Amino acid sequence: MRIAVVGASGEVGRMILRYLEELDFRPKSLDLYASAKSAGNTLYYLDKGIEIKELTESSFEAGYDYVFFAAGGGIARSHAPVAGVRSSLVIDNSSAFRKNPDIPLIVPEINGDLLKSYQGIVSNPNCSSIQMLLPLSALDKAYTLKKIVVATYQAVSGSGYGGIQTLLAQRAGAKDKGIYPEIIDLNIIPQIGVFMDSGYSMEEEKMINETHKILRNEEIAISPTTVRVPVIYGHSEAVYAEFERDIELQEAGELLKAAPGVQFHENNYLCPLDIANSNLSHVCRLRYGVDRRSLNFWNLGHNVRIGAAANAVNIMLKHIELNNG
Ligand SMILES: NC(=O)c1ccc[n+]([C@@H]2O[C@H](COP(=O)([O-])OP(=O)(O)OC[C@H]3O[C@@H](n4cnc5c(N)ncnc54)[C@H](OP(=O)(O)O)[C@@H]3O)[C@@H](O)[C@H]2O)c1
Repeated sequence: MRIAVVGASGEVGRMILRYLEELDFRPKSLDLYASAKSAGNTLYYLDKGIEIKELTESSFEAGYDYVFFAAGGGIARSHAPVAGVRSSLVIDNSSAFRKNPDIPLIVPEINGDLLKSYQGIVSNPNCSSIQMLLPLSALDKAYTLKKIVVATYQAVSGSGYGGIQTLLAQRAGAKDKGIYPEIIDLNIIPQIGVFMDSGYSMEEEKMINETHKILRNEEIAISPTTVRVPVIYGHSEAVYAEFERDIELQEAGELLKAAPGVQFHENNYLCPLDIANSNLSHVCRLRYGVDRRSLNFWNLGHNVRIGAAANAVNIMLKHIELNNG
C-alpha cells in the first residue's frame, strides 16, 4: 500500500503518523509532504527516518492508494483534485469540500457505508462535530433526534500549531494576541472563525451543516455556541438534545456503552487532561434535560485524535475493509 501525508509536519499530520504507528500499520511506501519551510526535515515512522518533501504540482504523478491532506483548505482545493485522479482515496481534513453534495463527509461508525465502491476525495468532518455526533447518532437511532443545543470549550491546538504557540507565548508573558482576536491565556473567547450573516460564527455553522449531512437529516434543529479556552489538547462540549420519544436513562446509558467510538462514564466525569491518548468520544454526566424526552451530557474528545487524525485513518481502514474484503 502506498500512502502520502500532506501537511505531515503539522499537528494533524504528525498525529496521523503516530496513530498509524500505534496500529502497527506497515505501508509499502510512505511519502511525507509539507511546505518549503519543512522540506528536508526528517520525521520518524516505526524507527525509520523519512525526509519531508516540498509539495509540488507533480507530487502525485506516480499515484498513491491513500493520500491524507492536513494542510488547510487552500492547499486542499489546489492539490486534492489532482491527487484524487491517481489515488484510490484522498482524505481531506479541511473544510474545503465538506459542503459539496458530491463529496462524502464521513464518520466511519455512523455513515462509513458511503465508502463502498467510492473513489476520489472524502472529507473528514470538523473536530467538534465528530465527537458530538458519535454519541448522538446512537441515541438518534433509538429515540429520533429533534433538536441540539450545544456549547463547546475548544482547545487551542484546534487552531493548529499556531494556537499552541500563541497560548504558550502569552503564558510566558507575551502581550500580543497572536492568532486569536483576543488574549487567550487566563481568558475564554466566544468566537471561533469569522461571524456569518446569521450571527453564528463559521465554526458554529460548520456544526450545523455537518450534523445535517452526517446524520442525513436536514430537519434536526441545532444551535451551537463555540468557544476557545486556554486548554492545549481536548475539546469539551455541554450537549443538550431533544428527541421524539420518551427516554429511559438506564437504557440510554446502555446504548452509549454499546456505541462504537464512544466511552460512557456512568459514575465519574473527565477533564481534558484525562484523555491524553484516547481516540474515543467520552460521555459523562448523562441526565435528563427539561423532561423525559431530553438529555444533557458532558462530551470530551481529543481534537487532534478523534477530531481529526484518528477519524481520517479510520476512514482509510473502513474503505479498505469495504472494498478489498
Ligand atoms: N488541529 C486540529 O485539532 C484539527 C482538527 C480538525 C481539522 N483540522 C484541520 O486539519 C488541517 C491541518 O491542521 P493542523 O492543526 O495540523 O495545522 P498546522 O499544525 O498549522 O499544520 C499545517 C500543515 O500544513 C502544511 N502546509 C502549510 N502550507 C503548505 C503548503 N503551501 N504546501 C504544503 N504544506 C503546507 C504545514 O507545513 P509547514 O510545517 O512546512 O508549514 C503543516 O504541515 C486544517 O485544515 C485544519 O482545519 C485540524
